[in-house]
Amino acid sequence: MKILVLGGTGWVSSHVARIALEAGHAVTCLTRSAGVPNGARSVRADRDADDAYVAVAGEQWDAVIDVAREPGHVRRATQALAESANRYILVSTISVYANHAQRDADETADRLPPLEADVMASMADYGSAKVAAEDAVVAAFGPDRFVIARPGLIGGPGDATGRTTYWPWRFAHPVDATHIVVPDALDLTCAVIDARDLAAWLVYCASAEISGTFDVLGEQLTLRDHLAIAREAGVAEGGAGVDEPRILPMPAAFLLEHGVAEWAGDNSLPLWIADESMGAMSARSAKLAAANGLRLRPLADTLRDGMWWRGNNGGGAGLSDAGEREVIAAWRAQPDG
Ligand SMILES: NC(=O)c1ccc[n+]([C@@H]2O[C@H](COP(=O)([O-])OP(=O)(O)OC[C@H]3O[C@@H](n4cnc5c(N)ncnc54)[C@H](OP(=O)(O)O)[C@@H]3O)[C@@H](O)[C@H]2O)c1
Repeated sequence: MKILVLGGTGWVSSHVARIALEAGHAVTCLTRSAGVPNGARSVRADRDADDAYVAVAGEQWDAVIDVAREPGHVRRATQALAESANRYILVSTISVYANHAQRDADETADRLPPLEADVMASMADYGSAKVAAEDAVVAAFGPDRFVIARPGLIGGPGDATGRTTYWPWRFAHPVDATHIVVPDALDLTCAVIDARDLAAWLVYCASAEISGTFDVLGEQLTLRDHLAIAREAGVAEGGAGVDEPRILPMPAAFLLEHGVAEWAGDNSLPLWIADESMGAMSARSAKLAAANGLRLRPLADTLRDGMWWRGNNGGGAGLSDAGEREVIAAWRAQPDG
């Protein structure tokens, strides 16, 4: 097949290009910068420009795979490529949904209103921007020449946000003799989709001529089970001379009071969600993609590979060593700590 990847120098999009090449497809990557995978043809263009697709719109494509975040990028691409591409595959997000409190909701659930602007004013527009991007794809390629893939949290090697690389890394590098800090929300549903499994499925959708809209989630596990798998991966790595650190669950009120953030960023406990209105974010129905060829590697492989990547590439989300020490000290300083 002849596949146009709108991307190829980044994280998910470079996995897409590499996996498509490995499957024997002819791959062209359109990006601003150099550095697409070996074997891919590189077309350099800026998707902010109206004429960004001139060099590729005159060719026939079996599939286009797009990872854009800005609605304008997708609006212009779908208009330019509607005639020459057979299928358009957009990486959207579960952030398009209006409600994240209801468990087992499926792809028919209500979305946010679409962003009218071509460019997000801030990441607060992210969900609405993706809704607008989805609408552009369906308008140009509907009803049966598109895939809207809505991933949940993407993880593994290359996760520069650190959300999926922190826990195994922390178990491998504890700062306390016996324990690591975790939130006590151990029944929270987590579902990390490995970037490589997502990419492989996107390429499969192109070759199997899949159409439709799909939530694309990793295996749904409790945070308790996720941490147990992370611990196993981290302990296998050796740690700092500490034998099998144990979890020290702390309630949300204590963590928030001590400046620990949910989910992502500095001084955070990744994957933790204290906000009940977001509590079912990863508990959506994941049946449709599974029934349409999505294959998941074991979470242990994602976490092990991500831990190595973090070790070689640096941080992202999580508590620093000093932050971890401070929180443990504050916990133990309580009268009943
Ligand atoms: N991280 C998560 O947990 C998560 C969850 C759900 C969904 N998603 C979605 O997953 C997708 C993949 O994310 P990612 O961060 O891995 O993407 P990525 O592969 O790093 O993709 C960005 C690509 O777009 C290209 N690009 C950006 N601006 C461009 C421009 N103006 N003109 C031409 N090319 C441009 C970049 O190339 P150059 O910079 O070289 O131009 C790069 O190759 C995104 O759609 C994201 O919304 C992520």
